[in-house]
Amino acid sequence: MKDRTANNVHTAFVEEAKAHERLLMFAKKAEEEELPQIAHLFRAVAAAEGIHSRRHFAMLESVADTQTNLERSFQSENTVNGIHYPAMLLEAEEDSETAASITFSQIRDVEAFHANLYRRALNDLIAQRSTEYYVCTVCGYVAEREPPENCPVCNAPRSKFEKVN
Ligand SMILES: [Fe+2]
Ligand SMILES: [Fe+2]
Repeated sequence: MKDRTANNVHTAFVEEAKAHERLLMFAKKAEEEELPQIAHLFRAVAAAEGIHSRRHFAMLESVADTQTNLERSFQSENTVNGIHYPAMLLEAEEDSETAASITFSQIRDVEAFHANLYRRALNDLIAQRSTEYYVCTVCGYVAEREPPENCPVCNAPRSKFEKVN
């Protein structure tokens, strides 16, 4: 694919993925406002934007075999943990933006745990050990087997963990 079109496809992927997430947040808000039909509409269009996003992504040939996908995901977590979040955290601290500082710092820490899960999965690729996963709905920490009493990153209670299907 020519560079210009590839850039446009990548931009379209990012924007559609953002729209997907944004609409799901809007749906949640509509539910809180007891507007279930509007929530339903937002979820319907969110599903459509998700289809658009994945269609663009597929064209970028970014979905390789699973071993490669695990390796890339591992690298990506290391990069955001080691470079991107620390840089953004520094700037948020310089700006005295406490809420953003806390978010960047917690998520930076969580990404290291994600990297570790991928590293172990790469080692276990053949063994196919099965385990349950629970995600902290506050910070994104992923627990194996069972949820902890409190999240080791953000201290959220066990009730904030959701089982992954
Ligand atoms: Fe992550
Ligand atoms: Fe957490």
